[in-house]
Amino acid sequence: MDMNTAPIDPGFRSDVLRCFEEGSHAIPARWLYDRAGSELFEQITELPEYYPTRTETGLLERYCGEVAQLGERGRAVVEFGSGSSTKTPHLLRAVDIAAYVPIDISGAFLADSAAELKSQFPSLPIYPLEADFMRPLKLPVEVEDMPKLGFFPGSTIGNMIARTSVDLLRSMRETLGTGSQLLIGFDRIKDQQKLVDAYDDSAGVTAQFSLNLLHRINAELDGDIPVEIFRHIAVWNDLYARIEIYLETQSDMTFTIDGRKFGLSQGDRLHVENSHKYGLRDARLMLRAGGWSPLREWSDEQDFFSLILAEAHPYRHAP
Ligand code: AVI
Repeated sequence: MDMNTAPIDPGFRSDVLRCFEEGSHAIPARWLYDRAGSELFEQITELPEYYPTRTETGLLERYCGEVAQLGERGRAVVEFGSGSSTKTPHLLRAVDIAAYVPIDISGAFLADSAAELKSQFPSLPIYPLEADFMRPLKLPVEVEDMPKLGFFPGSTIGNMIARTSVDLLRSMRETLGTGSQLLIGFDRIKDQQKLVDAYDDSAGVTAQFSLNLLHRINAELDGDIPVEIFRHIAVWNDLYARIEIYLETQSDMTFTIDGRKFGLSQGDRLHVENSHKYGLRDARLMLRAGGWSPLREWSDEQDFFSLILAEAHPYRHAP
């Protein structure tokens, strides 16, 4: 289904109007992913400057065998925000699994990726779940009694502020249950220029990705924002250890969205995304705050990216 002809999402409308009416000048990053945005993100993952995907894939190729050894056989792999499931085959090949449950909010993506995986793993039972994984979910009955391995690659957790990340980890724990494991990717703090370049590439694909949000507003919310007057900027916020993405106006402007008139001045910035990065042991602390005990951490030689396997131990009283 083409997202641009889909019915208007009321959450999108209210988040966009709030951005301009209350002057917060911030729009939640999840709205970057309509079909065009999701396709642009796939292109980002192949850019020379965007090291996370390549580095994490290398770690998966190298260490999934160890992941298999550290858990039971016959598990159900539950992938949160599976998108196009491009990293999943590495895990599925290494871990002897009994079922795969991809969870994604986009039914269109789910159907495509489930079909693609089915062609690669014809005997693997796949139970796609179209849902918002930010809340605890009921998994398909077919996998209820299987041990579970959650999979959350890509450092997607980094797009959430710390409080939301911890809420998500807790709800993943509730979804998967005590005794389950979680394999999760975290992008590491590194040279600032390397980070900024990864989010402001020379071919301008990341700029197109964030500017697409304005095109989406125009298309879905009957807007006339002059997109060409905005420029994409990526800045490193050292205090919060994150890359912040803004769309900055290059001159004063007025525009309408859904029949309402708004104005912005030259230099105003719309905050459209954060991508948090993690120092040594930051990610482990975050996992523990969310109810997950780290079992193993693997990193590449340059410490650009970490993969962590964690377990949902039964809660016990602290000493
Ligand atoms: C999906 N997420 C982990 C990406 C990131 O690196 O924060 C999104 C992205 N935005 C711009 N480039 C990549």
